[in-house]
Amino acid sequence: MAELSVKHLLGIKYLNENDIQLIFETADHFKEVINRSIKKVPSLRDITIANIFFENSTRTKLSFELAEKRLSADVINFSAAQSSVKKGETLIDTVNNILSMKVDMVVMRHPNPGAGIFLSKHVNASIVNAGDGAHEHPTQALLDSYSIREKLGDVAGKNVVIVGDILHSRVALSNIFALKLQGANVKVCGPKTLLPKHIESLGVTVETNLRKALNWCDVANMLRIQNERLDISYFPTTREYTQQFGVNKKLLNSLDKEIVIMHPGPINRGVEITSDVADSKQSIILNQVENGVAIRMAVIYLLASKIK
Ligand code: CP
Repeated sequence: MAELSVKHLLGIKYLNENDIQLIFETADHFKEVINRSIKKVPSLRDITIANIFFENSTRTKLSFELAEKRLSADVINFSAAQSSVKKGETLIDTVNNILSMKVDMVVMRHPNPGAGIFLSKHVNASIVNAGDGAHEHPTQALLDSYSIREKLGDVAGKNVVIVGDILHSRVALSNIFALKLQGANVKVCGPKTLLPKHIESLGVTVETNLRKALNWCDVANMLRIQNERLDISYFPTTREYTQQFGVNKKLLNSLDKEIVIMHPGPINRGVEITSDVADSKQSIILNQVENGVAIRMAVIYLLASKIK
């Protein structure tokens, strides 16, 4: 059986193209499973997974939990806000205590970049990064590419623009790695203050004019401003940001072609995207969420096969 080149999913940076194709082919199978009347398979009856979230989440947390349950794994959930972390317990102590309850895999979201990498070096379990600060969000990038493949047939050769707060976005970095690995052309677009210096070294091009970027692309992935990571203001006002970098129906209708609109969520309606775009036929935002379950089933299934 084909297997992943990695024991943990810490970032797209550590995957190769074969890994991505294997995850997609496995997700194709699970997508078919979750559309059956009985949406569950017994594959991981002997696996226990802990979802440990040190940062807020709606989509990722629920999607991982559902994916694990669809695979028949035993699942425990941990939220830092209601835990003994508040009494001063360290990350390694917290996780080792959870692991002593015979847990095989840890899915972790953490505000600090590199938290998953650190954990993988200190505990004996398979680690899945569910988002670590402004570093990586690998399953989001996988489900994003998978959704492009589903909509347009392939990712290779497609023009994808990522718009918004690139500087503070783990979604942007993971998407850049994933899209480049699959042969897409990637552009980033946003205010200069929210574009990292030397971003071109990742093989992307930069555009600060949204209309030009949208006229170039097949797919626009709209990101929200990561307000929780901004210690200073990076643009004059939200209204001015929206005027320059927000997408609305009038702008989309004035382009040379019809493009696909994506957003990882949560959406700030009326800021980076208007409701008439988010809810339009061009938007695949809810398809991304649906595909997230199949992608996470595939990732967990493939990593679990390396534990057994
Ligand atoms: N896209 C995403 O990571 O959403 P949540 O923060 O709600 O998990």
